[in-house]
Amino acid sequence: MEVENVLAMKGGHKDSSYTVNSLSVQIKMVRAVKPILERGIHENMRLKLNEGSIFRIADFGCATGWNTLLVADTIVRAVQCTIAEGEEAEFVVYFVDLPSNDFNSLLRMMPPTQQVCAYAENDGDNNPVAARSYFAAAVCGSHFRRLFPRKTLHICHSSLSLQWLSKVPESVQQTSSPHVYVSSDCEEAVGAAYLQQFDTDFTSFLTARAEETVDGGCVFISLVGRNGGTHIMEEQGTLGDIACHFEYAFQELVNEGFIEKDKWESFNLPWFGPSPEELESIVKRQGAFRLESVRVLGEFPLHSMTEVSRGEEEEAFGRSVANHYRSLFENIVEAHLGCERLTDEFFSRICKRATDKFEEYLSNQIELVVALLIKK
Ligand SMILES: C[S@@+](CC[C@H](N)C(=O)[O-])C[C@H]1O[C@@H](n2cnc3c(N)ncnc32)[C@H](O)[C@@H]1O
Repeated sequence: MEVENVLAMKGGHKDSSYTVNSLSVQIKMVRAVKPILERGIHENMRLKLNEGSIFRIADFGCATGWNTLLVADTIVRAVQCTIAEGEEAEFVVYFVDLPSNDFNSLLRMMPPTQQVCAYAENDGDNNPVAARSYFAAAVCGSHFRRLFPRKTLHICHSSLSLQWLSKVPESVQQTSSPHVYVSSDCEEAVGAAYLQQFDTDFTSFLTARAEETVDGGCVFISLVGRNGGTHIMEEQGTLGDIACHFEYAFQELVNEGFIEKDKWESFNLPWFGPSPEELESIVKRQGAFRLESVRVLGEFPLHSMTEVSRGEEEEAFGRSVANHYRSLFENIVEAHLGCERLTDEFFSRICKRATDKFEEYLSNQIELVVALLIKK
């Protein structure tokens, strides 16, 4: 399975879309990262702009939804504050994702443009702004390859995307065991293969951005990761929690005769949560960027409901978990199961377990690794 052909967050605006679900889960992370992003720009963006300069920003793995627009707005405003008197810039934001992304919904959500000086204030609560002071363009393709001309980007940004790998490591694809992911009871070689795949992919990302970014330009990334020093196999954090929920749903489909066991065993999630140390060592080895800062930020709740009143809200909680998982994984699960009916069965098992065992789910949390790199 070519991940880039099947991976896409669920488009549109229904209950199980990324736009709707990210407003209650991922938005908390984007908000927490916002001041770090602003400070990083204020302290590090020292580009000399000539009159009429064009400032180019690219958001890699933009998906669709208000998060994406909030990030673009945050970056443009922060850069505007760094521009010296007498200098002027026009901004272009490139929204980058895989071809299967719902770019149409994103472009339809764009507020109208306004001139930089007449820029409309937002309401101070990180809500979507009423206007934008940048030109916008959508760019399709994998961010593990070159997507822009040489030395044209000033700021590269990527939020919650780089934990997705370009593929499940080949050695894992050939292993037949009922694990959808690195887990504490799988062979050590499986963890090592995932780390190696992350290393290969992240190196490709850096190499492509190194070509595209101007000297002194910034790459700001936040991705699902894990605290340093812990063992790959035991501590995949959120990714491990989600994998357990997946394993349960697959097992139920096998027990109930919907799928054969090898269908379950051949499913593996193409993602990896690195520690800051792993990230740092890849940046150093690749060599084109100086690592200005890296830190772990957490712990964000994985689910939109953080409290459930017993006897009243269990079902609503189960539905919210299933909708959130659909927004992230429906396309990838359907590509594996091969039809909509089985996919619905799969997510109804996710819903049932989250309803029955809601207490187990409430403690699921996400840790982010946040890093700022400066092009040497
Ligand atoms: C969870 S969404 C994050 C969306 C948004 N940045 C946010 O913070 O809410 C991850 C996005 O990364 C995209 N993605 C994953 N791998 C990619 C790749 N190799 N190239 C480009 N986009 C990729 C997915 O298609 C998806 O839209």
